[in-house]
Amino acid sequence: MKAIRYHEFGEVDVLKYEDVPEPELGDDEVLVRVKAASLNHLDLRLRSGKSPRPVDLPHIGGVDIAGDVERTGKNVKDLAPGTRVVIDPTVKTPKGPMVIGVNFYGGFAEYVKVPAPNAVPIPDEVSYDDASALPICYVTAWYGLFDRGGLQQGETVLVHAAGSGTGSAAVQIAKEGGAFVIATAGSDEKLEKVRKLGADATINYNTADFSEEVKKITDNKGVDLIFDQIGASVWENNLKSLKMKGRLLLIGVVGGGQTTFNFGPVIVKDLSVLGVTVFNAPRGNLINVINLVSLGRLSPVIDKRFPLSEAAQAQKMLEDRSQFGKVILNP
Ligand SMILES: NC(=O)c1ccc[n+]([C@@H]2O[C@H](COP(=O)([O-])OP(=O)(O)OC[C@H]3O[C@@H](n4cnc5c(N)ncnc54)[C@H](OP(=O)(O)O)[C@@H]3O)[C@@H](O)[C@H]2O)c1
Repeated sequence: MKAIRYHEFGEVDVLKYEDVPEPELGDDEVLVRVKAASLNHLDLRLRSGKSPRPVDLPHIGGVDIAGDVERTGKNVKDLAPGTRVVIDPTVKTPKGPMVIGVNFYGGFAEYVKVPAPNAVPIPDEVSYDDASALPICYVTAWYGLFDRGGLQQGETVLVHAAGSGTGSAAVQIAKEGGAFVIATAGSDEKLEKVRKLGADATINYNTADFSEEVKKITDNKGVDLIFDQIGASVWENNLKSLKMKGRLLLIGVVGGGQTTFNFGPVIVKDLSVLGVTVFNAPRGNLINVINLVSLGRLSPVIDKRFPLSEAAQAQKMLEDRSQFGKVILNP
């Protein structure tokens, strides 16, 4: 089969489109013919060798996968060949979560093998492309906002990097939860698209101090909840932007993973700082977002599709921060 594999860490040119043996199927596994695999920032970090989740080389990435069941192992009774599925990438083990596309070969290939319970059927009205956008970004948004953040209807949420895969998901899911959404992004062009997704107010964090803008938008009250994928570079202003008893969701660190911790505002404002790891989310979160898509209440934001052979160009788009929402590979 064809796959995108890398044998060393580095820039996008380490991604090789090559022939690799088809996976050998275990008794409890299914072989999935990949129809769509969406990219995540995680793929860039893994490829660069700078991820805190190191991968063995050579590696085939691709955590977000949708396709058809091609073949099943002999113990698999409830998934017939031809079933349309999306892959829950998390394999729960006694040692903690292991991830398809990180600890095992992933979906940037014509075929991928997964444990049968990780292949989740999707209804006909959910396209492969839409389904492949869901397991990381939309589940992170759901798990972060509701399970970790306890979002309540009528609360105000600040979503950072709203043009990112996770950010565009969080804007829509926060609106679904009845929130007033303030969204940030690095260009006015992205902000225009974010407003079309339903954001109530927007801030360009490259041209304005977002904490000052939040004050103006909220009449000095601040926000209840922040969905933050940026990290260190926005830490100070995040603390300024939260109201009393506000909650800060730490999702990602594209803007740095270390800073000095100023206890003062956290103590005097009764703030909560909460870590979020999608790989701890319950499977029900994925089912919830699939249902919302099938009901037409959630539309995954897909910017561009590339053939599998053009994975390097696709990853470059994320590296250049030029995408809005998700970028997809179609083998
Ligand atoms: N905790 C979890 O379970 C979980 C799950 C999913 C993702 N994440 C993390 O969340 C982060 C975002 O992931 P994603 O896949 O949504 O990312 P993405 O689609 O690649 O988008 C990242 C966006 O972040 C913005 N950004 C702000 N500061 C940046 C900087 N210094 N360098 C690069 N980009 C910067 C850029 O938008 P602008 O141009 O608008 O600034 C960029 O487009 C990553 O750190 C990822 O690992 C964590």
